[in-house]
Order: sequence, then C-alpha cells, then structure tokens
Amino acid sequence: MAALLADPFFARLKSVVINSTGMAFYSDKDEDLARITADRMEACKLSDCASYLNLLEREPGHGGEMEALVAELTIGETYFFRHKEQFDALRDTILPNVIARNQTFKRLRIWSAGCSIGPEPYTLAIMLKREFGQKLADWHISIIATDINQKFLARAREARYDEWAFRTTPDDIRRECFDKVGKHWVLKSQFRSLVTFQYHNLTRNRFPSLVDNIAAFDIIICRNVIIYFSPETVAQLVPCFREALMDGGWLIMGHAEPNMELFRDFRTVNVPGAVLYQRVDRPETAEPPQMAVAPRPLTVPAAPSPCRPAPLPPVRRPSPARQKAAPMGLRPVAPPAEGAAKVRRLADAGHWNEALASCDALLAASGMDWRLHLLRALILEQLGEGAGCETALRRAIYLDRKAVLPHYHLGLFLARGDDNNGARRSFRNVLALLADLPDDHPIEDGDDLTASQLRESVEMHLKLIGSS
Ligand SMILES: C[S@@+](CC[C@H](N)C(=O)[O-])C[C@H]1O[C@@H](n2cnc3c(N)ncnc32)[C@H](O)[C@@H]1O
Repeated sequence: MAALLADPFFARLKSVVINSTGMAFYSDKDEDLARITADRMEACKLSDCASYLNLLEREPGHGGEMEALVAELTIGETYFFRHKEQFDALRDTILPNVIARNQTFKRLRIWSAGCSIGPEPYTLAIMLKREFGQKLADWHISIIATDINQKFLARAREARYDEWAFRTTPDDIRRECFDKVGKHWVLKSQFRSLVTFQYHNLTRNRFPSLVDNIAAFDIIICRNVIIYFSPETVAQLVPCFREALMDGGWLIMGHAEPNMELFRDFRTVNVPGAVLYQRVDRPETAEPPQMAVAPRPLTVPAAPSPCRPAPLPPVRRPSPARQKAAPMGLRPVAPPAEGAAKVRRLADAGHWNEALASCDALLAASGMDWRLHLLRALILEQLGEGAGCETALRRAIYLDRKAVLPHYHLGLFLARGDDNNGARRSFRNVLALLADLPDDHPIEDGDDLTASQLRESVEMHLKLIGSS
C-alpha cells in the first residue's frame, strides 16, 4: 500500500475513481483508496498503478475491472425501516397525497436511488402492500431501485438477509413478509415482484430519461448517497431529481441531509422527524394546507469529509462515448432531431398528453421514424394504453429491426403481461444486436445508456422470467 501511495500515477487513479463514481469522499482518504485498490491490483496480479489504470480504462463496462473496483469502494450500509420517521411520513402524508392525485390512471412510480442491497425499496414494497394493499389492488405499481454497485444489485435481487438487516424491523413484519431459510430471511415473492433493480450511475447516466425508465416518478427516495459526493455534484443532481418527478411528486433525502438553499425550488414540508420536498409547478398540486407545517430552521449538512471540488462532468452532459465517432461497422449514434427532442422533454417531465399530441403531429409528417414510434409507445404505456403501446413498439421494430431499444421495451412490455415466451424472444434479440458492440458503446437514442448496461439489464430480466 505504501508503494501505491508513492506511485506517480496514484493521483490520476484517484481522479479516475472520483470521476467515474462521483465519490469525492475519497478526495482526502488516500490510505483507504490505496488499501482497496492494492487488493484489487493483487487480484489482477499487477504491481504498478499505470498498468492498473490501463486495465480500468480497457475494461470500463459490465464484468470489467472498473465494476470490480466500484464494488469494493462503495459503502452499502442499509437496513429495513431505516429512519422509521421517514416511512411514517410516506404512509401518513406522501402516499395519501399521491394516491388521491393518481386515481384516474391508477399508477404509482417510485425510485429508490442508491438502493444498496435492497432493504430500502423492499421496505417501501412491504409498506405499500400492508398499509395500502386494498386501495392499490388494481394499480400498476413500479418501484425502480438503482445502484452503481453491481454486486449490491445482485444481492438485492436475491432478497436474502441476515438478522442484522432487521435491527429496527418489528418482529411481526419480519414473520409475515419473510420466509426463514437456514440462518437467513428471504422476502416473499408478492413483495419482491413490486421492485425492479437496475444499474444506474447518478453522476454519469443522464436523467430524467424515459427510455432508461428513470423519469416521471411520484416519489424519489435517495438517502445516504449524496453525502459521498462533492457539493458541486450535489448541486447538479438536485435539479435533475426535481425534473424526474411529476408535478406534485415528492423527494425524500437522508434525514441528515436537509439544506434550505439546495432544495429551494421545492416546497418544503416538515413532519415529525422528517423533512419532505415536493415539486409544485401549479399551486393546486400542493399538499392541502393543513398538512404543511412552517419550515423549521435547517442546517447545511457537513460533508463526511471536506471535499475538494471533484472534476466531474456535468450530470446532463452527453458522455464522451456519445461524442466519439462510431467505430467501423457500428451504427453511428445520431443526435435526436429537434422535434423528437421536444417530445422527449415533455415525456421526461411526465406531460403525457402534450407529449403524445406533439409526437402524433411529428408522426403525421414523418411516420417512418422508429424513434417517434418508440416514444409514442413509451408515452402510451404511461397513459395505461397497453394495446397502443404494443402496436407502436412493433411498428418501430418493423421500421428498423436493428434498433435495439424497441426490442428491449417490447420485452419489458411482454414480461409485464406475463407473455414470457414473447419477452424472452425480444430480450434475446437485444442480446444478439448487442453482441458485437464494445461495452461502452452508447445505445442509439438511449440517453447515455451503454451496451454493457443494457446487456446487464436484459440478462437480469431473462433470469427473472426463466430461460426455458
Ligand atoms: C449508504 S448506501 C445507502 C443505501 C440506502 N439508500 C439507505 O439509506 O439505506 C449508499 C449507496 O449509494 C450507492 N452509490 C454510490 N455512488 C453512487 C452513484 N454514483 N450512483 C448510484 N449509486 C451510488 C452505493 O453503491 C451504495 O449502495
């Protein structure tokens, strides 16, 4: 480790790590970073930092060394019903508000950003089923849980936990919702099925993005994640969270992370033991006045360590990969046309009807563009028009069989409707189309989604529906 600290390339390694993960936390933790990296270097049988950097850059994607390093660097401390007051606030304030507003479409979309090994999104699933089961019986509920650490995501999908994960969970809930298997507790399938896990790097993957399924949420919960980022990164992320919410949607941050200035574009609602932030574009979407409490004085949280400004790319900037020329033989990634970009903006913000009208107007002029049909499909899906969604996806595929995203979304659509054979065919088409692409190749119209991220996601879905 001492040799690594003295290595002339160590500073570059540190900046690559901070750039890739946003974890400015490591700015002044050279010893921790060196210890973790030295272990990885030993596993790779490398002794100098320059060779290890080469390896990181050669294998940036799924299954590569960067993934293995990130798995060791990230801190996944989590447990069920962590900071119970926030879940009480969800039950008593947020969910009644969202359920009342979404009565027409009967849809509920929640994002757990930085979900670690899963207790946070699963706590939400347990609460929804137990407390709102009857009210939401015929609702379409999605809890999208994302993390940068693929190992955590794999463990989350297993939903198997030891005693320590239940340190603040009432015993009756554990007995009712989990099966005891050996020394572990495994969450029952009716709760697991509400949650979808997917890779997402908050500081690298552009959002909101409907094509990446990170948009139009009613609730975003992102706790104990931004504490590891630099203030600059956090300042870039907060407006993206706001944009990824529906009008009237709610943001929950870690209980020690309130900051008046940072969340000034939100409406702040104080409830016992928790501060909630609501996106309010039109005054009538705000919480009824009797539930809002005057803001209490908030403190600016101290970063876990004084962070040097991290040289992160702006969150919403296209990734360098997108700007690169396509390698020989690969489809070039065209920038979205202006009209389509407008539809995407409307859709990413959850303005479904305006987005649909705008998309249809464009389709009337250029009905052969698969991208517009894909967008139309995603919008119709959000509007609950399944048949129209499927037709639009199949039309997009008919227009360009090599476009990856329509196959992927058709797979997701069919899997949701329990057509597992159809879904498997679609997902296998995606894998075949991705087969020759390098890991970091951007997916056409995929908002910085890369080939390796999509591959990983498809493999996860195939595993979920079974391979027969
Ligand atoms: C301390 S855990 C928080 C888990 C959960 N939210 C909770 O409060 O119980 C922090 C999580 O953030 C994830 N994380 C760190 N950097 C990230 C990034 N750039 N994008 C997405 N997730 C990230 C880590 O992998 C880790 O799982």
